[in-house]
Amino acid sequence: MTESLTVRDNRTGQEYDVPITDGTIRAADLGKIKADDETPGLAVYDPGFVNTASCRSSVTYIDGDKGILEYRGYPIEQLAEHSSFLEVAYLLIHGHLPSKEEHDAWVHEITYHTFVHENVKTFMQGFRYDAHPMGMLMASTGALSTFYPESRDISDEQNRHMQMVRMIAKMPTLGAWAFRHAQGKPYVYPDNDLSYTGNFLSMLFKMSETKFEADPRLVKALDTLFILHADHEQNCSTNAVRSVGSSQVDPYSAVAAGVGALYGPLHGGANEAVLRMLKRIGSKENIPAFIEGVKAGNERLMGFGHRVYKNFDPRATIIKKACDDVFEVTGVNPLLEIAKELEKIALEDEYFVKRKLYPNVDFYSGLIYEAFQFPPEMFTVLFAIGRTPGWLAQWSELVTDKEQKIARPKQIYTGDRTLQFTPASQRWA
Ligand SMILES: CC(C)(COP(=O)(O)OP(=O)(O)OC[C@H]1O[C@@H](n2cnc3c(N)ncnc32)[C@H](O)[C@@H]1OP(=O)(O)O)[C@@H](O)C(=O)NCCC(=O)NCCS
Repeated sequence: MTESLTVRDNRTGQEYDVPITDGTIRAADLGKIKADDETPGLAVYDPGFVNTASCRSSVTYIDGDKGILEYRGYPIEQLAEHSSFLEVAYLLIHGHLPSKEEHDAWVHEITYHTFVHENVKTFMQGFRYDAHPMGMLMASTGALSTFYPESRDISDEQNRHMQMVRMIAKMPTLGAWAFRHAQGKPYVYPDNDLSYTGNFLSMLFKMSETKFEADPRLVKALDTLFILHADHEQNCSTNAVRSVGSSQVDPYSAVAAGVGALYGPLHGGANEAVLRMLKRIGSKENIPAFIEGVKAGNERLMGFGHRVYKNFDPRATIIKKACDDVFEVTGVNPLLEIAKELEKIALEDEYFVKRKLYPNVDFYSGLIYEAFQFPPEMFTVLFAIGRTPGWLAQWSELVTDKEQKIARPKQIYTGDRTLQFTPASQRWA
């Protein structure tokens, strides 16, 4: 039996049978419900798309109540422990785990596309000395579209593959150069002997030494963080990539839109807010007073709570473990003690328990990034590098999805109508 919804329009008394598929109804079916032939059909009003599915996707599965996150069906915990970022990127984009040959070819391709055209370097050097690295990343990602004009041919599968390889390969180069720029340091060229993440750390931190090889524990921890950020289904930046990509623009421009969305404090900026909060609390003795302030509604406990995860954020558990690995190398960040104590107290407090507030991915990630000596402006750049394969997997799915159309929501018009225009010369007379 097909599931359906019976809707009775009390304006007309008419009843409609609306089919239910995969727990959703088609908005177009509601459009058939009309008060009369003159008025438009019924639409749904959903600012922020909080209850609207915009696509069918087989990339990432989330069950917020159960704390489940899976990429192409594989639990995030297993991928974080046993996989690498590039293998996860392959999985997200191709939909299956690579064979040995596929893996080696993929890693080889990405490794040999890490360099960017010298003009990209000149372009980046043109930014002001204090330019925000996310602004630089957004602009330089978009600028890549001018270096690869063939990327506009998105109907060609080989061509799409090439651009996705280039983008995953070049993001760390652009991100590292944005970082070096703010520090007034020379840009470091990629070292293709190193792993993806090892090379990124080299481009960030290499000075006069002939080779920069970061501690493998740091490389592993950052690689894990990239895996944790690689996709999160239809979040704000992915929705931006899909929305812009739906115009059939080249993928560099679509991903630049994603970087722009991530730049905003509501999306990529929470871990920085956690750090500021921990610094303000300053010592363990001040935690109870701080918690009381949160409960009184004076402020939020940053890094706690999530729109989707209402049990626990599976990424937070993995990050906590990565914290230990990183601090083994860098020495413990004194803020970690405050964070752990804060978490302990909050998890036992009825206010947080009742509201299902748990640490999210941002609660510990800022501490790790700080241990790497990244300034807070770089945190979102790291997020963007990790999220690139997810954006591309979603973009690739979009452009091959026959059901997708150019993104063009409706509106409820609330302004004036049919006013009479008076020319400025008369209005200002
Ligand atoms: C992530 C977040 C925006 C999700 O918000 P949401 O799903 O819309 O949840 P709501 O804002 O409706 O909050 C539900 C209740 O929990 C409370 N709450 C939510 N997050 C809270 C937090 N971090 N600290 C204290 N109280 C919080 C709200 O005040 C509200 O309480 P009330 O019912 O008494 O009014 C929110 O939890 C938050 O602001 N967290 C801190 C910022 C952060 O870490 N963001 C990163 C997300 S990855």
